[in-house]
Amino acid sequence: DWTPDSFIETTIAELKAKLGDDKVVLGLSGGVDSSVAAVLLHQAIGKNLHCIFVDNGLLRKDEYQSVLDSYQHMGLNIKGIDAKQRFYDALAGVSDPEKKRKAIGRVFIEVFDDAAHEVQGVSWLGQGTIYPDVIESVSVKGPSATIKSHHNVGGLPDFMKLKVVEPLNTLFKDEVRRVGKALGIDPNILGRHPFPGPGLAIRILGDVTPEKVEILQQADAIYINNLRSGGVYDKVWQAGAIYLPVQSVGVMGDERTYENVICLRAVESLDGMTADWCHLPYDLLAKISNEIINNVKGINRVVYDISSKPPATIEWE
Ligand code: XMP
Repeated sequence: DWTPDSFIETTIAELKAKLGDDKVVLGLSGGVDSSVAAVLLHQAIGKNLHCIFVDNGLLRKDEYQSVLDSYQHMGLNIKGIDAKQRFYDALAGVSDPEKKRKAIGRVFIEVFDDAAHEVQGVSWLGQGTIYPDVIESVSVKGPSATIKSHHNVGGLPDFMKLKVVEPLNTLFKDEVRRVGKALGIDPNILGRHPFPGPGLAIRILGDVTPEKVEILQQADAIYINNLRSGGVYDKVWQAGAIYLPVQSVGVMGDERTYENVICLRAVESLDGMTADWCHLPYDLLAKISNEIINNVKGINRVVYDISSKPPATIEWE
């Protein structure tokens, strides 16, 4: 019978036999899959696992530092790379969603390839691929699509020539969470909502600037913290704030304002393929709206997205 403990025991033994004294490089995203894959590999080969965590400047507020800290507490051999400016430069003036995804995918590959070159004698690429990724039933907009489109440009980057080790490729998401729990991984990492690889860039409609990212990070943090303190975070499959490139008139004290709109999105779903908007309590929505409008400079209006998928998608881009 499948149990998390038996899976962990056999997988670690298999990884030890397969990898011996070889070195593995693995990109951590802060998400569940790459975290569980990293801890399994770490238990099998220790310091020969070299983890790379890239700050693309498109993560949630304070997320880079807090995730890096918790990985370090887990004892992982991890290198954090601040590449914010490279991503912002690549995104400057780009407003088409697919072009944004491609620019982010391209820069990520460059940054990761540079970091992987610093690991002397590495022969394996570790990945947190899970079974649904293998059968390709997941979003066609996922990171693999970005990587594929890069292939046609300038040949394979060196890290893609490495042998691939994917310890989770027989598991479904709920099994990955159970394995993660049995491995003692921080429940805050295991219970996280899904977050897209291109991050906040696809939640800022139109072109991305560091200023817009900061505004969205503040609004999103207020939203997510209230979902947590209101006890609804774990009942929601995915939530996030979206920065709309729309200005509307408001009034603040005696002054007329003309500022941007934040849209809140929260959905229930099983796998992201279909989704229903969540019926969040009105008083919670009211509190979040007030907090955002009173605290986030540049925002004077908050709206709630009541569209289901299909025909709307979860993300706006
Ligand atoms: P949509 O917007 O297609 O989203 O309804 C379904 C799920 O996929 C996530 N998503 C992405 N994940 N790279 C990712 O890694 C992407 O480009 C991307 N686009 C959407 C989305 O957050 C939701 O969980």
